Amino acid sequence: MTASLQPTLAGRYYTDPAIFAAEQEQIFEKMWFCAARGSDVAAPGDFRTVTVGRESVLITRGRDGGARAFLNVCRHRGALLCAEESGSVKRTFRCTYHAWAYDTDGTLVAAPNLVKMPDVDRVERGLRRVHVREWLGYVWVCLADEAPSFEADVMGACVERLGDLASIDRYQLDSLRLGRRIRYDVKANWKLIIENFMECYHCSTIHPELVHVLPEFAGGYAAQYYVGHGAEFGPDVAGFTVDGSAGQAAIDTITPEQDRRYYAITIRPQVFVNLVPDHAIMHRMYPMAADRTIVECDWLFRPDVVESGADLDPSVELFDRVNRQDFDACERCQPGMSSRAYAEGGVLVPSEHHIATFHDWVRDRLGGTVLGK
Ligand code: FES
Ligand code: FE
Repeated sequence: MTASLQPTLAGRYYTDPAIFAAEQEQIFEKMWFCAARGSDVAAPGDFRTVTVGRESVLITRGRDGGARAFLNVCRHRGALLCAEESGSVKRTFRCTYHAWAYDTDGTLVAAPNLVKMPDVDRVERGLRRVHVREWLGYVWVCLADEAPSFEADVMGACVERLGDLASIDRYQLDSLRLGRRIRYDVKANWKLIIENFMECYHCSTIHPELVHVLPEFAGGYAAQYYVGHGAEFGPDVAGFTVDGSAGQAAIDTITPEQDRRYYAITIRPQVFVNLVPDHAIMHRMYPMAADRTIVECDWLFRPDVVESGADLDPSVELFDRVNRQDFDACERCQPGMSSRAYAEGGVLVPSEHHIATFHDWVRDRLGGTVLGK
């Protein structure tokens, strides 16, 4: 039986600022968003600022050790509270405009002449909080008034892909250590990056190193295509490294079935998890414009491996090359999205059919906001 080709989204979905604005509102500001590594805000007062949808979000750690997140806007006259991307405060976040100061729990604790303003409610005028969860060693935030179920949306994506939650728990992502972080500024729409990650039809043309390590990828079917399936290392491959040489000490809680295999998970809307026996690779996308996405990629290893000063380059280089190959391809597609040749979109071949589910999901999230195909 021959399978038919399915249409993709139309080109304007990747270029139209109105569609991007609708995505910011209906997707990134409504869903759980993986914002930072927990260790980015290791101690009370450490902070990071990230872009989530149309908002700047301030992530910090309270004195009780819990992660907190706020809209990064001073409640006095609206100045951006923290202009830095990361740093640490001793006790308070102090606005540089009129010196209102907020505790790490968001309460307004000081302001010039505050005693003469008895009607200022320090909690009411405190920073606007957003929902926070910590899972897999990451701080996830949700800007919606009522957050959707984290268990269903985030953990559920892992269960759907791996078959159960225990399979990801065995990699102990929350106790792994950050070995390397690389940030990519990609001149492409975030959906091109997701679609690319979901298929492996391109693997044999652009990923020679990856196909050497995972020979089944040459067939064009991504590991994500099958529930619970991990792609097996080639017979002459010792580890998930750029040249197939041995990697680092394996995470000792994985099962024998997880050894010598690669698993990939997409957690909508902006996270890719890659699992191999000795490390995990976490991609988080920060969509900045219809044609620009920042991707932050973390390589996580056992703490003793990172502390030993082991050479992580052969491990990091494999996926760094894969990332650059992928992002080059996405950047090559982005200009084509506004061509008349792509006004009606393109087609999905059978090995890419699961991308149609992603397109349906995008259309569904945008609902009546965006008209047309
Ligand atoms: Fe921040 Fe005035 S705007 S103190
Ligand atoms: Fe790829």
